[in-house]
Amino acid sequence: MAIIENSSVLVTGGAGFIGSNIIDKLMNQGNRVVCLDNFSTGKRDNIAHHLPNANFKLIDGDIRDFATCTKATQGVDFVLHQAALGSVPRSIKDPITTNEVNVTGFLNMLVASSDAGVKRFVYAASSSTYGDSKELPKVEERIGNPLSPYAVTKYVNELYANVFSSVYKMEIIGLRYFNVFGPRQDPNGAYAAVIPLFVKSLISKTSPLINGDGNFSRDFTYVANVVQANELAATTTSTEAINTVYNIACGTRTTLNELFSVIKGELSAFDAEIVHTKAIYGPERAGDVPHSLASISKAQKFLDYMPTHSFSQGIKEAIGWYWENLA
Ligand SMILES: NC(=O)c1ccc[n+]([C@@H]2O[C@H](COP(=O)([O-])OP(=O)(O)OC[C@H]3O[C@@H](n4cnc5c(N)ncnc54)[C@H](O)[C@@H]3O)[C@@H](O)[C@H]2O)c1
Repeated sequence: MAIIENSSVLVTGGAGFIGSNIIDKLMNQGNRVVCLDNFSTGKRDNIAHHLPNANFKLIDGDIRDFATCTKATQGVDFVLHQAALGSVPRSIKDPITTNEVNVTGFLNMLVASSDAGVKRFVYAASSSTYGDSKELPKVEERIGNPLSPYAVTKYVNELYANVFSSVYKMEIIGLRYFNVFGPRQDPNGAYAAVIPLFVKSLISKTSPLINGDGNFSRDFTYVANVVQANELAATTTSTEAINTVYNIACGTRTTLNELFSVIKGELSAFDAEIVHTKAIYGPERAGDVPHSLASISKAQKFLDYMPTHSFSQGIKEAIGWYWENLA
C-alpha cells in the first residue's frame, strides 16, 4: 500500500484527534512534519511526544490568519488539512465562528498552498454534506440539502476545492469522513462525540443519554482507516483519482442502541459491573441525520482504499485505549 515517505507534510489541526493520529504515522515513517494548530479543541498532550524530534515542527497559530498559513506551507510537499471546528450542535450555537474557521480558514489554506506550489492538498470533508438525502448507501455524486451550519461549511469547502483545482490547477482531494472514532477522541466538553461520551459514562457507571429512540444509525469509522485514506490521497499517481471527493468509512452501519450494547460488552471485560448500566433516552437533536451509511466503492476503485479495521475491530482497540487513559 502506498505510504508517504521522504516527504515534508503540513498537517493542520495536527493536535486534534484525527490530525495527531495522522502525525504519529507520518513521523514513524520518517517524514518531516509541520503541525499547525491553535489548540482550540486540540491538545498539546496529543503531540508532545514529537516535540524533541528535529523532523517535527509545531506552529501554534490560527488558520484564520493568512500570514500564518503562508508560513506553514513553505517548503511543504503535501498539505493534509484537518483543522476545523467540528460538531453540528456547536455550529448551531455559534455559526459565525464555525464559518470563520471552516470557510475563511479553509480558503486561506487553499490560497497559501497554491502560492507555495504544494504538490497536493488533501482535506477533511464530511458525511454531513449528504444532508437530508435519504438514499442509502450514500454515493458521492448525490447529495441532499445541508441540515446545519457545519454541513454548509463542509459543502462550501468542496465547492472551493473544485474551483481551485480548475482555476489554479491545484491537485486536491476531499475525504468525506463518516463518524470517525478511536484513540484520543475527546470525551470531554459540550460537543463530545457519541462513542467517547458513551465510554466515559459507562466507565463511571452513569447512564449515558441517547438522543432519540436509539435507532438512528451511523457508519462508524476507525481512525486508522482515515489515516490510510489521507496517505493514499496524497500519493496516488492516477490523474483519474484527483480533484474529486471520496467517502471514507467502513460501509457498514450500527444503530446507537447496538453501539451502546457493544461498548458495554467490551468494557464489561475490564469491570463486570458495567454490564448493569442502562442508557437513558432524550429528544432527538436538531440537525442530526437519521441514518448514515457510505458506499466506499469509489475510494476502493480509485484510491485502493481498503479499511484495515471493521467497526468491531476498531471498537476493541478504542476501548482498550480509553480504559488505559480514562479509567
Ligand atoms: N471526527 C469525525 O467524526 C469527523 C467526521 C467528519 C469530518 N471530520 C473533520 O475532520 C477534521 C478533524 O476532526 P477531529 O475529529 O480530529 O476534531 P478535533 O477537534 O479533535 O481536531 C480539530 C483540530 O483543529 C484545530 N483547530 C480548530 N480551529 C483551528 C484554527 N482556527 N486554526 C488552527 N487550528 C484549528 C483544533 O485545535 C484541533 O486540534 C475536521 O475538519 C472535522 O470537521 C471529523
